[in-house]
Amino acid sequence: MSHIPVLAKEVLEGLALGPGMTVLDGTLGLGGHAALMLEATSPNGKLIGVERDSRNWAVAKERLANYGDRVKTIRDSYGNIANYDVPPLDGVLLDLGFSSVHVDNADRGFSFMKEGPLDMRYDQTQELTAEVIVNSWSRDDLNRLLREYGEEHFSGEIAKAITETRKKQRITTTTQLADLILKLAGGRGHIHPATKTFQALRIAVNDEFGELTRGLDELTKLLKPGGRLAVITFHSLEDRIVKQFMKESELLEPLTKKPIIGSDEEVKSNPRSRSAKLRIGVKK
Ligand SMILES: C[S@@+](CC[C@H](N)C(=O)[O-])C[C@H]1O[C@@H](n2cnc3c(N)ncnc32)[C@H](O)[C@@H]1O
Repeated sequence: MSHIPVLAKEVLEGLALGPGMTVLDGTLGLGGHAALMLEATSPNGKLIGVERDSRNWAVAKERLANYGDRVKTIRDSYGNIANYDVPPLDGVLLDLGFSSVHVDNADRGFSFMKEGPLDMRYDQTQELTAEVIVNSWSRDDLNRLLREYGEEHFSGEIAKAITETRKKQRITTTTQLADLILKLAGGRGHIHPATKTFQALRIAVNDEFGELTRGLDELTKLLKPGGRLAVITFHSLEDRIVKQFMKESELLEPLTKKPIIGSDEEVKSNPRSRSAKLRIGVKK
């Protein structure tokens, strides 16, 4: 399993890390950025790693085991950080969204290119799945979800097709849903017509905007004065939340007016970095 950390150089520079600092990675993933943060704070810096997905959490924990007691991990959402005893922080990173493992493993239900259950949960102990939303939300609610979280122009048509289809047969797989949307869209558009629907479902299943809003607030409180918050987003809705927060928070000074994006070189070698945007804020 591999995951190339996105905007790695820019994150390290933006966080201005040095020996002995205490940092928190709120989206540990497979521990790529975390390992770099540990190197940048060596020999004695500390890292708290938070990850909601138990599989990724276990992989990261194992990967970072050689750093011994410099690392502490929490298997939970970073949005719940207020429930933990966290020391004052010099730096915080959020690298939002899903990881390569989620899209590569069909059984997690994140990819419309692979047949799998309509799941999309990061935390597989929670009850709400994409299948529940697709089969039980009203047409109006589905329409609103696709419009607001997917920015899907054809939200009404897709919501109608979903509610018509499920009258005959429960929609349980990724390909069932993707094919239904594909049929509706014909050859329209240059991205797969199910892209936005899948994004919207993923955001709703994991309450991604709720977690982000709570997390930004709580994590900023934990920063020391002068401590830095770095957030990498992958679509405009997330970026808007981060931008607004950094502009309006009384506790934070935005360091980046415009978000930092990947170099041409990185974008060429790591397709995931294509849509990545990094914003940095400094605690007042
Ligand atoms: C893009 S990946 C992070 C990759 C990581 N920076 C690395 O270098 O390996 C995002 C990770 O955040 C996790 N995640 C998503 N929402 C979360 C949340 N609210 N709290 C904690 N982890 C979350 C996902 O399960 C995924 O593993």
